[in-house]
Amino acid sequence: MSSTAFDLPTWSTQALARVEQALSDWVAAGGVVDAEHPAPAALREGMRYAVLDGGKRLRPLLVLAAREAVATGEASALNSAAVAGLDDAALRAACAAELIHAYSLVHDDMPCMDNDILRRGKPTVHVQFGEAQALLAGDALQALAFEILTPEGAAAPASVQATLCRLLAQAAGYQGMAGGQAIDLASIGMALTEEELRCMHRLKTGALLQGSVMMGAACAARPLPLATRNALHTYGAALGLAFQVVDDILDVTADSATLGKTAGKDAAQDKPTYVSLLGLDRSLAYAQELLAQALTALDASDLPHTNTQALRALADMVVNRSS
Ligand code: IPE
Ligand code: IPE
Ligand code: MG
Ligand code: MG
Ligand code: MG
Repeated sequence: MSSTAFDLPTWSTQALARVEQALSDWVAAGGVVDAEHPAPAALREGMRYAVLDGGKRLRPLLVLAAREAVATGEASALNSAAVAGLDDAALRAACAAELIHAYSLVHDDMPCMDNDILRRGKPTVHVQFGEAQALLAGDALQALAFEILTPEGAAAPASVQATLCRLLAQAAGYQGMAGGQAIDLASIGMALTEEELRCMHRLKTGALLQGSVMMGAACAARPLPLATRNALHTYGAALGLAFQVVDDILDVTADSATLGKTAGKDAAQDKPTYVSLLGLDRSLAYAQELLAQALTALDASDLPHTNTQALRALADMVVNRSS
């Protein structure tokens, strides 16, 4: 069956109904509610503004799609409470990935980084609330991501929670998003080789997308066979890189209203991108090549085709999107 037979909009709507509700509950509360020491209202407002009401929510969708891909046969092997515990861990991982992403956007937009005024169709957080609040909102969102992965009395095994924390920390840290952002800032005005550019993109954007896939896969009832794990890892790497290649393309080909962020920023700031290195046509072809790599990896995963349909459709969406 081809990925086009899968109804991604319906699947996404159902998945995101759970994600949006959970994010709204958890970000509003600022984590565990402490009535005696409530969080400062302005910080909470900045956090909610950064996270709620906008974005494609690709990272949560990848977590939930990967969880779905590895959930085969659980119902007969586990009791329903154990299955519900793993589903809850996946929902928490989905929201945690989005919180890290939202924090990365808040900081990415600040004057000390890309100095952007428009994000998700609204003024950026520092424009709306000031730089100090934006910095703190990003910090607090990052901390909240790890808090929601480790709830008191969690129904999921402690080993699953620990794995989720490790995967997210690696994806967000110096070997991942933060490291890639450092390379990005150090590369302004420079002509990177293709290998250097690939490395930067894999870290700054690919790592969190790949980490989202691996977090969903970590919410399995038992450890995955190595071949399956490796296949999902390869899928995540290809999709993660493809995502930033397409982001570079859209910066040139789309307008600000469609993107909800200022178009044309990369050339204006002299950032090395796939378009500046390879040109538009070769960048478009490379994105398609990465899509093929992602789908081939799923073919080699030994996971039933029906269970990987959401992952397949999401890869297609990443490469063929218009915003
Ligand atoms: C934009 O990410 C920043 C990059 C990592 C390139 P998205 O395009 O996923 O942004 P939202 O979440 O949809 O706003
Ligand atoms: C940002 O990359 C990657 C992040 C870690 C946020 P970009 O700087 O290209 O993202 P946009 O184009 O501003 O969304
Ligand atoms: Mg940037
Ligand atoms: Mg930017
Ligand atoms: Mg960009």
